[in-house]
Formats: sequence, structure tokens, C-alpha cells
Amino acid sequence: MAQELFRSPKKRGRVAVLLSGRGSNFRAIHEAMLAGKINADIVLVFSNKAEAPGLQTARERGLETLHLDPKSFPTKEAYDAAIVEELKKRQVDLVCLAGYMKIITPLFCQAFRNRIMNIHPALLPAFPGVEAQAQALAYGVKVAGCTVHFVDEGVDTGPIILQACVPVLENDTVESLSERILEQEHVIYSRAVRLFAEGRLVIEGHRVRILGQDLP
Ligand code: GRF
Repeated sequence: MAQELFRSPKKRGRVAVLLSGRGSNFRAIHEAMLAGKINADIVLVFSNKAEAPGLQTARERGLETLHLDPKSFPTKEAYDAAIVEELKKRQVDLVCLAGYMKIITPLFCQAFRNRIMNIHPALLPAFPGVEAQAQALAYGVKVAGCTVHFVDEGVDTGPIILQACVPVLENDTVESLSERILEQEHVIYSRAVRLFAEGRLVIEGHRVRILGQDLP
């Protein structure tokens, strides 16, 4: 059954970003919001790592931040339940995983079904999991890229929202390829959040239909 992700365009969306590292995707999304391209605000930047540079950037930008230490919780479920509670408290509409290096539990997926996005630095379903760019390079593909998808219970298996391609060059290293992919990540992740905020994403089975895409 088709599932529409409509919200009133009049209401500004409430987005939470979860990250574990440098946070360049978070910055790109935030900047698109500040530029008025996305009808939503970041209401929380969360990290499992106290020292994540992205968390520091969020503080400098005056955004609310939160760190919870996974080691202080008895189970992964208890940790995710605490995160879900924090997100619900802030009436979050959309959760953006942006370099969040933890696999979220089914409990988390269910609490925000079709409201969690992730960015992956490969053209899924190729090269899921860690070190996707190195996997692509080692395999010898001629085209690499990135994928924004909704998160389901699997690892990088949820419905695909947007993808972008980049060429793999003869003398590419993991670093040079990752850099070229990252530029595209920033473009498509911001675009996907905008489409969500505009209520233009419809999930049909495993497909995501983008409303109005065929219009000139
Ligand atoms: C990106 O390459 C993203 O695709 C992957 O983790 C990296 C995060 O980078 N999931 P940043 O923290 O957003 O700069």
C-alpha cells in the first residue's frame, strides 16, 4: 500500500541529526535550511561520541545538542529507547543519520517508521556496510556514487530516495574518490530533506515516488 509522507506545507518540519564524526552532511543540510531552501529546522543534533566534531559545530551554530554514552546503558535497545524518548520530547518529524556509526535497533526503526533517512557513500544495493568507497575501488567499478534512503531494519537496505553518480578515475585513491562522492552527498541529502519537508515523498512497497518530479 502506498504510504504518503505528507505534512502541511505551512508547518515547518522538525529535524534531528544523529552523527558520530565530522558532520559535513549535517552542515550542508543546516546551510540549506539557513538559505531558505528547506522548510524545516534542526531541533537537535545528537551524538554517541562526546568528542564528535559535528557536535561542536552544532554548539557553535547555537543548535541544541545531546550526547548519550552507549556504555551507560545495559542494552542497545535501552540506549535507543532513550534516544527515541528525547526525539519524541522534541516532536521530531524526521531523523537524519549523517555519519552515525551505530546500527539502530528495530525499536528505533518502528518508533520512526519511514521517518529516518541515511546517507551511504555508494550506489546501493552495491557496497553496503563500512568502507563503501574502498569496496567500490577494489571491485573496479567505473561509476561510484551515493544514496539517500529511508532506514529499515536491515543494514543499508531501506527504500532509496535519491542517488548521484560520480566517475571513478584511473588514478583515484580512496581519499580522492571519497571526496568526489562527498560533494554529491551534500547535494542529494539536502535535496531529500527538502522533498520530505515538502511532503513529496511517497513510499510504494520498496519504491519511493517523488511527487511533481515530472513537472517542468
Ligand atoms: C559520509 O561519507 C556518509 O556517507 C557516511 O559517513 C560519512 C559521514 O561524513 N555515512 P560527515 O560526518 O557527514 O562529514
